Amino acid sequence: MLKNKLKIAIAGIGTVGSGLLDLLKKYKDQNIEVSAIASRKHTKLKGKYFKNTTFFKDAKYLLDFNDYDVLVELIGGDSGIAKLIVIDALNKKKNVVTANKALVSRYWNDFQKLTTINNCKIKFEAAVAGGIPIIKVIDEFLLSNKIKRIYGILNGTSNYILSEMLSSNKEFNKILSDAKKLGYAESDPTFDIDGTDASHKLSILSSIAFGCDVQKIKNEGIQNINLLDLKIADTLGYKIKLLGLTEFDNNNLKCFVYPCLLSKDSFIAKIDGVYNGIVVESDFCKKSCFVGEGAGAYPTATSVLSDIIDLSQRNLDNSRKKNLSKYKIVNLDDRLGCYYLRFSTDDKSGVISGIANEFKKFNISMKSMLQKDTGKVNSAEATIVITTHTCLEKNMMKALSKINNLSFIRQKTVYLRIENFK
Ligand SMILES: NC(=O)c1ccc[n+]([C@@H]2O[C@H](COP(=O)([O-])OP(=O)(O)OC[C@H]3O[C@@H](n4cnc5c(N)ncnc54)[C@H](OP(=O)(O)O)[C@@H]3O)[C@@H](O)[C@H]2O)c1
Repeated sequence: MLKNKLKIAIAGIGTVGSGLLDLLKKYKDQNIEVSAIASRKHTKLKGKYFKNTTFFKDAKYLLDFNDYDVLVELIGGDSGIAKLIVIDALNKKKNVVTANKALVSRYWNDFQKLTTINNCKIKFEAAVAGGIPIIKVIDEFLLSNKIKRIYGILNGTSNYILSEMLSSNKEFNKILSDAKKLGYAESDPTFDIDGTDASHKLSILSSIAFGCDVQKIKNEGIQNINLLDLKIADTLGYKIKLLGLTEFDNNNLKCFVYPCLLSKDSFIAKIDGVYNGIVVESDFCKKSCFVGEGAGAYPTATSVLSDIIDLSQRNLDNSRKKNLSKYKIVNLDDRLGCYYLRFSTDDKSGVISGIANEFKKFNISMKSMLQKDTGKVNSAEATIVITTHTCLEKNMMKALSKINNLSFIRQKTVYLRIENFK
């Protein structure tokens, strides 16, 4: 046991906070003492674990409280009381542990400055992929390596929805409402399905891996993914996943979140359900793959407690975070890659040549083409699926805007990017 126990003040006893208290009681770390709990509901928790604990009915009272070494912020949100108490703690030269990806990604630079000035730390293992220790992997294990790129599935809710749509043959809205009932999606799942949550996590990964404080990540979500496209992709040997990708090369930073087709053979495509999966590519370690639960009370609390234990035992420092890199962000328009396109057209001659004609103007070449049976008798409508060879995104967008205005096009063309990870 340490001579002086590490005193922690916990703010917010919701899903993760309750999980942390259960874990603390089970783990019984003799070196950790809960000196304060701020909770709007749990104003007095019983048991010997809390005999030295001061209870506050609102986290704002922590602003006038100093008897702690580590603030554990588990309220959430990138403004309001969560931001106030974190900045207050860092100004008081206290360490902070948080699961709050929105706050860490938005105020990364400010927090780095405050921790440097005040010689303290902010730790956030739980903020990215709850049950996968990805921050430690990048910050500690791979510190000697140059990281080239990181990509993967960073949001379990959207992964669950896409997996379930295909396996149970149901459309997006039905699976989303089932996911809410099963507790896999929150009552307001906007940030999970529109890619915001994944972009917060990707911003943190870019910061720790490349020293790039990237605020505005181009993100697209899964809200417009159709069951039909999941099925066609399946027959073509792909799965559709919501991908987060960050890559730093020659001071150019690619940082995107979008749904895309991935070969079924790739590591990421095999990760279904609520699981998260992350691949880190580095110069000496090559390819390191991680899979685990991305959220939930206990996986997330495990990450929170591992940060607390770190602070109680070691005095780690990380040079990467202190040396911010200069970078130029790569626009999605400049993406070079392959595409999946689904056209709804009149069923008549001249359609393929009309599409091919526009492709030619924008230097796009077809890789494969199939015409899907619409299943309707005497239908005058055709579904044509084309995959392309590598082309420039801005060329593809220009071609599609021309094609969508052609007289034989019945509905706006569905397009998805294809990523060729092995
Ligand atoms: N849930 C997960 O699986 C997961 C995974 C990874 C990261 N995270 C992150 O962890 C953080 C917490 O998430 P969560 O799921 O545990 O959220 P949650 O269940 O909503 O818990 C937040 C708690 O904070 C309390 N709170 C709000 N304002 C407060 C105040 N002024 N004083 C004291 N308590 C206050 C809330 O109380 P009321 O109930 O009274 O509003 C609630 O109990 C978020 O940043 C989230 O992004 C969560």
